[in-house]
Amino acid sequence: MKTAITEMFGIQHPIIQGGMHYVGFAELASAVSNAGGLGIITGLTQKTPELLAKEIARCRDMTDKPFGVNLTFLPTFAAPPYPEYIAAIREGGVKIVETAGRSPEQYMPALKAAGIKVIHKCTSVRHSLKAEAIGCDAVSVDGFECGGHPGEDDMPNMILLPRAAEELKIPFVASGGMADARSLVAALAMGAQGMNMGTRFIATKEAPVHDNVKNALVKASELDTRLIMRALRNTERVLTNAKVEKLIEIEREKGKDLKIADIMDQVAGVYPKVMIDGDMDAGAWSCGMMVGLIHDIPSVKELIDRIMADAEQIIRGRLTGFLDGTVETVSPAVHKVA
Ligand SMILES: Cc1cc2nc3c(=O)[nH]c(=O)nc-3n(C[C@H](O)[C@H](O)[C@H](O)COP(=O)(O)O)c2cc1C
Repeated sequence: MKTAITEMFGIQHPIIQGGMHYVGFAELASAVSNAGGLGIITGLTQKTPELLAKEIARCRDMTDKPFGVNLTFLPTFAAPPYPEYIAAIREGGVKIVETAGRSPEQYMPALKAAGIKVIHKCTSVRHSLKAEAIGCDAVSVDGFECGGHPGEDDMPNMILLPRAAEELKIPFVASGGMADARSLVAALAMGAQGMNMGTRFIATKEAPVHDNVKNALVKASELDTRLIMRALRNTERVLTNAKVEKLIEIEREKGKDLKIADIMDQVAGVYPKVMIDGDMDAGAWSCGMMVGLIHDIPSVKELIDRIMADAEQIIRGRLTGFLDGTVETVSPAVHKVA
């Protein structure tokens, strides 16, 4: 399949693996890139720019295909040394950066001077337009369904994607709730040039996380995510567990007076405990609503090949079948792709 995104990033399939804290290591990024998608290393999971440089080198050893690095601009006063992280990316020869969180405006000159293509992930049309205005090459439009930070507008992709298509001149991919071929074809129909998946890629053989995490994703339903930290205007969608329910109870009690200090026990230092140790009750960690569509743990290549094969069947069979009036001859299996 050829779209503006496959052409921009030099990849075979219009599928991107979004940056994920303590998941986006070289193992996963290289597996996605080797399977024809765009794998992304999560920059800030590497505690220093030197460690990021090593992770980039490790990824380069595992793939000769393009891959990217995620740089998340956190709402914090003690900012990580972003210029040094960008230097590690530049010196590592990485040509694609996924930015997220705050606007990357301040860092655009450095990224552009290094010949890096920037895809900014954002949750609204206005932020997408801002990204376009400051010179981003593409946008990852992240709907309310997404794992991680859906923003404060609560706009699902059914509305957000066609609205983005109405306003944007630069290409965009659909992010949030993307699970399979049905998501991809729907996203393309709504004006996107590809899709970005987070949660789905955690339940793959190559994702370097504890098996407990993968099994929890297979077991969970679409009803099992919760929104937390709304009162802090830092809303995050997470998988529920005992600590998350406790956190929600604290939020209810404190209301508008909630401070981050009130919920430290539920949100601080959680990722290594969950992803490395497999302690599923360690606290709050990001997970998208599409978790209800995860039924297996394939290899990344199996997942991507299946998505692309099923997408072709949906387009050539089901959709063309509707136009030709022959839809009853189309395999019902298409409705149930995994
Ligand atoms: C466990 C987890 C950790 C994540 N960490 C980050 C991160 O550090 N930076 C970032 O920009 N996005 C992060 N995300 C968001 C993903 O990159 C992606 O935008 C999101 O998962 C898309 O929604 P989906 O989960 O419905 O596919 C994370 C998502 C998950 C599930």
